[in-house]
Order: sequence, then structure tokens, then C-alpha cells
Amino acid sequence: MSQINYQTVQDYLTSLVPSREPELQKMEDYAKKNKFPIIGPACGYYCYQLARLINAKSVFELGSGYGYSTAWFARAVKENGGGVVHHTVWDEELSERAADHLSALGSADVVEFHIAEAVETLRQAQGPFDIIFNDIDKEGYPDSLPIIKEKLRRGGILIIDNMLWHGQTLDPNDHEKSTEAVRRFTRDITTDLDWIVSLIPARDGMIIAYKK
Ligand SMILES: C[S@@+](CC[C@H](N)C(=O)[O-])C[C@H]1O[C@@H](n2cnc3c(N)ncnc32)[C@H](O)[C@@H]1O
Repeated sequence: MSQINYQTVQDYLTSLVPSREPELQKMEDYAKKNKFPIIGPACGYYCYQLARLINAKSVFELGSGYGYSTAWFARAVKENGGGVVHHTVWDEELSERAADHLSALGSADVVEFHIAEAVETLRQAQGPFDIIFNDIDKEGYPDSLPIIKEKLRRGGILIIDNMLWHGQTLDPNDHEKSTEAVRRFTRDITTDLDWIVSLIPARDGMIIAYKK
């Protein structure tokens, strides 16, 4: 075990993801160059796999950026026979870029774009959803959980990114607001018996939670 190095494992996981379309690679290159925090290929492919596994036809994303995670969900939903993926971000420019990328990937027909605060948009959306994916500002995580729980169907999957928060959650001396929020969210969901929860140490850590 002492031979295992975190970054080496992450590079290995990424190397196992099948090669992507040029448009998706373009989105990955942009993130790398500009340090934009997309979920990356290994987590994106995992989201796609989960969406295929449960035959998801309705996905709600909170905090969608320029549409990289959306692209993976949209691909799954199309392969599952069609449905809808809600892309939600409060930056107009990111939403427009996402629409361009999704069009280029041939998936825009299953995506609904919302330029708005994500939790409020979910509150107003008509659920229930098969999958909810949460990637908003971390301070907003704890308050998002009750509304997510209400809008996810039984047997549905909640995916939450950044649950290791660059290792800060493991540092007992770190009391930043964002770190405390990730800790609180983790505590809230892992102590709620309505969920079956695992934290997957891919990239920055994703929680996969099944609603019983
Ligand atoms: C981490 S990035 C999203 C990356 C995207 N999920 C991906 O993997 O491709 C989060 C984005 O959501 C936006 N955002 C954060 N909190 C939000 C909120 N409460 N409502 C709407 N947008 C939010 C941020 O401005 C940023 O553009």
C-alpha cells in the first residue's frame, strides 16, 4: 500500500477512460489551461456510467459551468432513449458557452439551460429526478440537501463533487467556511438512514448516494 501515490492513481484512472470526441477534449484543454474546476474525464465517465446503469431519463445539475459534466449526462440520457438534463448556472456567459458545446456534441436537444441560482431553480422544478448532481459553491451544500432529497425519486442517485475538498476536510486545523460546509454535508447525509452513501476517491472525491 505504501507504493500508492494519489496523483499516480488519478492519472491511471484517467488513462482508463475511452478517448473522447474532439469537442469534449477541447473542453478538457480549456479547463487545464484556465484552471476551471470541471469534474474531469474519470468522474465524468463515472457519471455517465451511473446514468446508464439506472437508465436515467431526467437529470438535474446544480452548478454546471460551461457544460462538461452536462455533456456526460446528456450522452447517457440520449443513449437511454431521451429525456432531459437541466443545466443550471448563474453566469450567462458560461450558459451560452455550454449551449455552444452541447450543440457541437449533438446533445443540445436534451438539455434545458437555466441562468439562475441552482438550489432555487431546483426548488421550482417539477421533479422527481432520476439523478441530481451537485457542484455549486461549497458553502451552499448543507442547505441544498433537504430540497435535493425532496426532488430525487426513490431509487435515484445523488452525486456530489469535491467531497475531499483538496484534502482540506481531512485537516483538523482547517476551519474555512467551505471546508466546514463540506464536513457538515457529509455528516448530514451519512447519518440519514434514507440514504446509502459512498465516498469515491476519484479526483476531488465524489459522494454517490442512493435514495432508498
Ligand atoms: C465547479 S463549477 C462547475 C463545473 C461543472 N459541474 C463541470 O464539471 O463541468 C461550478 C459553477 O457553478 C456556478 N455556481 C456556484 N454556485 C452556484 C449556485 N448556487 N447557483 C448557480 N450557479 C452556481 C459557479 O459560478 C461555476 O460556474
